[in-house]
Amino acid sequence: MAGIELIEIDNNPWLDEFTGILYKRRKDKGWTEEQTLAAVRTQLYFAGMMLETGKTDVVVGGNVSSTPDVLRASIHTVGVAEGISLVSSYFLMVFSDRIYGFADCAVNPNPTSEQLADIAISTAKNFQSVTGIEAKMGMLSFSTNGSAEHPDVDKVKLATQIVKDKAPEIPCDGEMQFDAAIVPEIGQRKFPGSTVAGNVNVMIFPDLDAGNIGYKIAQRLGGAEAIGPIMQGLKKPYCDLSRGASVEDMVSVAEINILMS
Ligand SMILES: CC(C)(COP(=O)(O)OP(=O)(O)OC[C@H]1O[C@@H](n2cnc3c(N)ncnc32)[C@H](O)[C@@H]1OP(=O)(O)O)[C@@H](O)C(=O)NCCC(=O)NCCS
Repeated sequence: MAGIELIEIDNNPWLDEFTGILYKRRKDKGWTEEQTLAAVRTQLYFAGMMLETGKTDVVVGGNVSSTPDVLRASIHTVGVAEGISLVSSYFLMVFSDRIYGFADCAVNPNPTSEQLADIAISTAKNFQSVTGIEAKMGMLSFSTNGSAEHPDVDKVKLATQIVKDKAPEIPCDGEMQFDAAIVPEIGQRKFPGSTVAGNVNVMIFPDLDAGNIGYKIAQRLGGAEAIGPIMQGLKKPYCDLSRGASVEDMVSVAEINILMS
């Protein structure tokens, strides 16, 4: 493996430096020095501290760790980017002739309207910078344009309004059902006047149940290649992989994160 440097954690000279930096940050949260050293000795925290201190440019983890463990390590080491309220994720769903952004399918179990709006804005921006395609965003629900009344529908309606207020340059409508988002005739019929209904390419799911189940249906029944979860909102690119990830998946996720950074 010419040109590839392997780094051992045991007895590594960076252990003290990393523990010192992390302990300073985490002691107010109740972490002891021993606990911090134990964390830094794990691959997820050690790699995160390499990223934080500029010793590497991208971290790719998760092929042998759970998503919550990767998320906690990335949030504790590199942290949330300035001006961003939360870390979230999106998938690029690649079909033979089309590509979609799906979010949030891996991080936030039950986002508030404000959090949903932030997830949507981050996803639209990253989708555009990675694919070069203009994002047309649909805020998904079991209701289209007021067809049903329920607090869950109100949550998506409010999130849509927040997106429109905060990022008026992004074409976005909601709330809408998946068929209204993707089928032009249904979009026009159920959501007349919408600039995106029927032509949505960035799907924002109302919660993690919908998002995670939705992307897996597209992947397993629809035959899409699912690239992700691609983390967004971190200060530096720390990527998570599914535990079923192939070598190609690892390379794709790393490349996309470099494009976003
Ligand atoms: C992200 C996640 C790990 C956080 O879990 P949690 O129970 O809140 O964990 P913790 O309370 O230990 O949070 C860790 C830290 O991250 C912060 N945090 C949690 N979610 C965050 C988010 N979306 N953005 C930024 N920070 C976040 C917490 O405030 C906490 O900070 P602190 O330790 O400085 O106080 C959790 O939301 C999760 O497990 N999500 C689902 C992931 C998953 O299983 N996906 C499966 C599909 S692939």
